[in-house]
Amino acid sequence: MEESLFVKTGEDTGYDIILAHDYISLPEHIEKLGFKGRKICIISDSNVFPLYGDIVKEQLKPVSDDIFDIVFAAGEENKHLDTVKKIYEGLIGYHFERNDLIVALGGGVTGDISGYAAATYLRGIDFIQLPTTLLACTDSSIGGKTGVDLDEYKNMVGAFKMPRLVYMNLSTLKSLNGREFASGMGEVLKHGLIKDAAYYEWLINNFSEINERDSKTLQKMIKRSCEIKRDIVERDPTEKGERALLNFGHTIGHAIEKYMNFELKHGECVALGAFAASYISYKRQLLTTEECFEIRDMFVPFGLPVTLPDGADADKILELTKSDKKMNAGRIRFILLKGIGKAYIDTTVTDEEMLDGIRQLVIDKDL
Ligand SMILES: NC(=O)c1ccc[n+]([C@@H]2O[C@H](COP(=O)([O-])OP(=O)(O)OC[C@H]3O[C@@H](n4cnc5c(N)ncnc54)[C@H](O)[C@@H]3O)[C@@H](O)[C@H]2O)c1
Ligand SMILES: [Zn+2]
Repeated sequence: MEESLFVKTGEDTGYDIILAHDYISLPEHIEKLGFKGRKICIISDSNVFPLYGDIVKEQLKPVSDDIFDIVFAAGEENKHLDTVKKIYEGLIGYHFERNDLIVALGGGVTGDISGYAAATYLRGIDFIQLPTTLLACTDSSIGGKTGVDLDEYKNMVGAFKMPRLVYMNLSTLKSLNGREFASGMGEVLKHGLIKDAAYYEWLINNFSEINERDSKTLQKMIKRSCEIKRDIVERDPTEKGERALLNFGHTIGHAIEKYMNFELKHGECVALGAFAASYISYKRQLLTTEECFEIRDMFVPFGLPVTLPDGADADKILELTKSDKKMNAGRIRFILLKGIGKAYIDTTVTDEEMLDGIRQLVIDKDL
């Protein structure tokens, strides 16, 4: 059954998030926004476009006679300005104008790049998100953060650009490989840990249905994660405060992503970073021993790592946290937990504490 949520972006502006199981009602939702007759460009990556590009094009035929596509090589390593340049060149080649529409079809990488291109091409054109990974359905497609990496700096160049619609065909998640699915679970578990203890508990109790990708269970889970993210970004769209809670696990997670040369998936690094941050919280007596190590152990049934490869260099990872953007007057805005479901921003976390947290990932202390 199709469900929808609304994300408010102003007094009387906002966008729908549609949870569907096919692309059948996509044209109707696009037409409702007044896009009929506009040129459409589908931006997608080299894995997703061959799977779903034709279906989406077919569905969009009643909406527009001019449907184009731009396909870039899949992977985080292509989330940079050269890919954005190719998109601009493609759009210029198709004579795209201010009132035309970009459709981002793919995971978080596609959404972030396409959104950034949409924010900047001709000083901004409309775009909609068709997320196809669990990570994109539950996190990256919502909230309007777009951007690309610059050298080793993740998401260093970007813009806030709200999509006009987020439409997810949840059946696309069936073709996602196990590791990519698990990566999405890194963000999903994060949502429970920062905001909703009952949801976290529910996730753990339903791990086998989730891993089997039972359609009803997934829809319920994705909806709840979308609500949590929606509520946060509505209250704090530009990350002046509360939105930073979504960065739980990301300061150390991003450092690990770089340290491992992006061989680990984003959500895998978030899981590692989340345990390190939980360990720091535990050392500050904000979490009990049981809570801290339950958080670690509960990543495992979802296929997420809780240790780094043997010999990983904790000092080097600490060093890499310094290039993370989440700074406030030179201090890292670190997210800690004062209980499951209760995250807060802390600017007093020291290098020693972070190193201690990272070391828990390197050496399996068998506690
Ligand atoms: N903007 C935000 O708020 C936000 C939030 C969280 C993460 N992110 C960003 O999202 C990115 C990670 O997103 P991701 O994990 O979706 O990565 P991704 O877009 O690279 O997708 C992962 C892989 O799965 C493939 N794929 C996508 N959908 C598929 C499907 N249905 N079937 C088969 N294969 C499929 C892709 O081609 C890719 O190889 C990172 O760059 C991260 O920084 C952004
Ligand atoms: Zn993330």
